[in-house]
Amino acid sequence: GAPTAGFVNASDTDPSLEANRTWGRKILRRSATSELGIETIDEAWVDDPGRLEEVVAGVAAAGVAWGREDGATRAELLDLVGQGLAAHRAELIEVMASETGKTIAEGDPEVSEAIDFAFYYAEQARALDRVEGAVAVPPRLTVVAPPWNFPVSIPVGGVLAALAVGSGVILKPAPQAHRSAAVIAEILWKSGVPKSLLALVDLDEGSLGRDLIAHPAVDRVILTGSYDTAALFRSWRPDLPLHAETSGKNAIVVTPSADLDLAVADIVQSAFGHAGQKCSAASLVILVGSVAESARFRRQLVDAVSSLRVGYPDVPTTRMGPLIDPPTGKLERGLRTLADGESWLLKPAALDDTDVLWSPGIRDGVTPGSEFHLTEYFGPVLGIMHASSLSEAIEWQNAVDYGLTAGLHALDVDEIATWSDAVQAGNLYVNRTTTGAIVQRQPFGGWKRSTVGTGAKAGGPNQLVGLTTWRRNNHEP
Ligand code: ALA
Repeated sequence: GAPTAGFVNASDTDPSLEANRTWGRKILRRSATSELGIETIDEAWVDDPGRLEEVVAGVAAAGVAWGREDGATRAELLDLVGQGLAAHRAELIEVMASETGKTIAEGDPEVSEAIDFAFYYAEQARALDRVEGAVAVPPRLTVVAPPWNFPVSIPVGGVLAALAVGSGVILKPAPQAHRSAAVIAEILWKSGVPKSLLALVDLDEGSLGRDLIAHPAVDRVILTGSYDTAALFRSWRPDLPLHAETSGKNAIVVTPSADLDLAVADIVQSAFGHAGQKCSAASLVILVGSVAESARFRRQLVDAVSSLRVGYPDVPTTRMGPLIDPPTGKLERGLRTLADGESWLLKPAALDDTDVLWSPGIRDGVTPGSEFHLTEYFGPVLGIMHASSLSEAIEWQNAVDYGLTAGLHALDVDEIATWSDAVQAGNLYVNRTTTGAIVQRQPFGGWKRSTVGTGAKAGGPNQLVGLTTWRRNNHEP
């Protein structure tokens, strides 16, 4: 049930219990979603461009009414949504697996995160009521534009943040994650979110997306996507009140003081979880001093990465799933083309003719300033750099345009302090993975080109305030 005193994170499912493994097999047989009764979903989509104006007007009007409710009322709805999401954990994992290739082990914590957003933002909505003037001008209408790679937690987080501050919401999912968005919407509607307040819109990425983003009734846009998409949105509407979490090029530094076995395990998870297709993923490892000079650490890393079982999520032993699409452009270069001085420690390969199932790759000898050093590839390929000192490693870590996550493996407290003071990223992780931020404990968001807008972090105490205090100059009463 809903927490009454204090927020508590939802627990993931414990696979050591036989009952949970049976539950997991049912998910893999794809027999969970049918029990949700989501047959109405096709009708729920707004995909007729001629209806855009009507939908925008309707949701904005519902948003105005919703914005007059107090924080406690909004919180009650979010608590119901949290319960609804928890009751449909299996369906959510199933749709992520079948639509985007996410394994149960990856999908399960993502559902926990979505549930956390509901209960955490409910608590925050109650707190907002106590901050005088905090919701002076609630947004009427927020467009939430999430990516495909966290097809449940990121859309849910955006939608619920907007609902929590009294806004109506148009959810415009990534094309690769349509069904996941539909299941989310169905669960939210079933939990009591009025259909007038949350619309699911399927628009082509071109002119219609532009019509929506540039529409004057849109008071906020919550985007998680590439920096280029954020810049495109801005070009469509220069005064756009945009809250965007964008690209990353994230590195983990390993110094000689590190627990090297732990470092290997954390690097494998950070770089190859969900096939490296996370903005938070580590795609560089910067080895310092003797760790760089000895071949042992690299051999250990190669052994660990080559033992990852690559496959589809319906095979229970799969550890790394497929790419969302066949690689093109920069990812294809990252998977196929070495630059001067680089060598493959593990050469990635397409494992079947779909071109989405790739074995993981590791390239050694990545040099400062090279394409691999500076480019976000968004796939299962990791580069290794060799630094002579921690300060050189930090310099290379900071040399990228982005600043989303950054990792350090070191047990020396002075090294940890030096690094933490100097590294330019939103989320710093010491002696753990760089992915899998937990609501409240690790509010998630970036620095530099990894964020556009307020910079308020998802799942943190400033997110709702950021949404409520950004006022448009031309806001109509
Ligand atoms: N919030 C996601 C993570 O931390 C992106 O991995």
